[in-house]
Amino acid sequence: MSATPPQHLDRIQIFPPARPGIPRTPARHRRACAAALAASPHRPLLCTEVLRCLHPAPGDLIVDATLGGGGHTSALLPLLDPGGHLLAIDTDPHALAVAAPRLRAQVPASVQFTARHASFRDLHRTMQTCGVDRAQSILVDLGISQLQLDDQTRGFHFTGVGPLDMRLDPSGTSTAAEWLASLDAAALARLLELNADEPHAQRIADLLTHAPVTTTHALERRIRLGLDASGLGLTRPEIRRSVRRTFQALRIAVNNELAALEALLAQLPDCLAPGGRVVILTFHSGEERRVIDAFGDGRRRGLYARVARTPIRSLKAETRADRRAAACKMRWAIRA
Ligand SMILES: C[S@@+](CC[C@H](N)C(=O)[O-])C[C@H]1O[C@@H](n2cnc3c(N)ncnc32)[C@H](O)[C@@H]1O
Repeated sequence: MSATPPQHLDRIQIFPPARPGIPRTPARHRRACAAALAASPHRPLLCTEVLRCLHPAPGDLIVDATLGGGGHTSALLPLLDPGGHLLAIDTDPHALAVAAPRLRAQVPASVQFTARHASFRDLHRTMQTCGVDRAQSILVDLGISQLQLDDQTRGFHFTGVGPLDMRLDPSGTSTAAEWLASLDAAALARLLELNADEPHAQRIADLLTHAPVTTTHALERRIRLGLDASGLGLTRPEIRRSVRRTFQALRIAVNNELAALEALLAQLPDCLAPGGRVVILTFHSGEERRVIDAFGDGRRRGLYARVARTPIRSLKAETRADRRAAACKMRWAIRA
């Protein structure tokens, strides 16, 4: 037998057993995640770790603030039986229209499932309009889902040809093409640095601001050919990463994602019951910095009893199966 514990056990021990006598990774959590993985069109990242930290129990009120493909919700629902309530929201009405009917079909009879089109920037108000006040657990899985990435008409991904839209909520104001057209090179370079830590921000900004870009293919091509001819000696994978980061930076700007996250973090303590838990999955440094600061500040002010000191990361096997997993960092906090 190996002298060192398996990597996943090591990570799970970061979070102590919350209820005495409950094993560290209950078999019912593993079963719920396996079923969710098999049924969901979006692979729920760090599924057993999310369950471990949220610790769903029968009768709990749980909020999934980013329903997406419904993968995590699908794993949570059976663990609330009997008598629990899961409130799921998403700012993308299309994501909600796809996931909610599928989930309704699998809700245990005694569990209530509510799906609402809303942004988590208004989480507390949304909870109140749904007749609930404070939750035992809140899950926030930031970014976008595989379904959104794969839909070429949404403009989130650089493979294929689609309109440069990128709005999560199509009733939102400007598309990515309109955003791009409104920025000068200096403002775009700043945005690429802030939202994606892009090392070639100024070069890409110069490439993108001299003529309009209206499709995903045109945006990808302009960056790829421009960086290739730039004399920087970049390899193909390096150029591809710059393309990916540019798409990410624009998406974050179009949807005002960092402002929404800040608004959510400010109201989380009001949305959690005493002892309630929040788990947040972040995918880039701008998100992570904000979560660390808000949890640390909440801890100092006595709003949180405990907060994660280190993030929980995906294992290699998950990273191989889903590229988003490599960037994913999970943090948790417990309401005082
Ligand atoms: C990574 S996906 C969630 C995947 C989900 N956990 C699953 O297992 O299928 C993120 C989701 O959050 C949604 N989202 C992004 N910003 C949001 C906001 N401000 N309010 C509510 N939902 C948001 C996106 O539309 C997307 O569907």
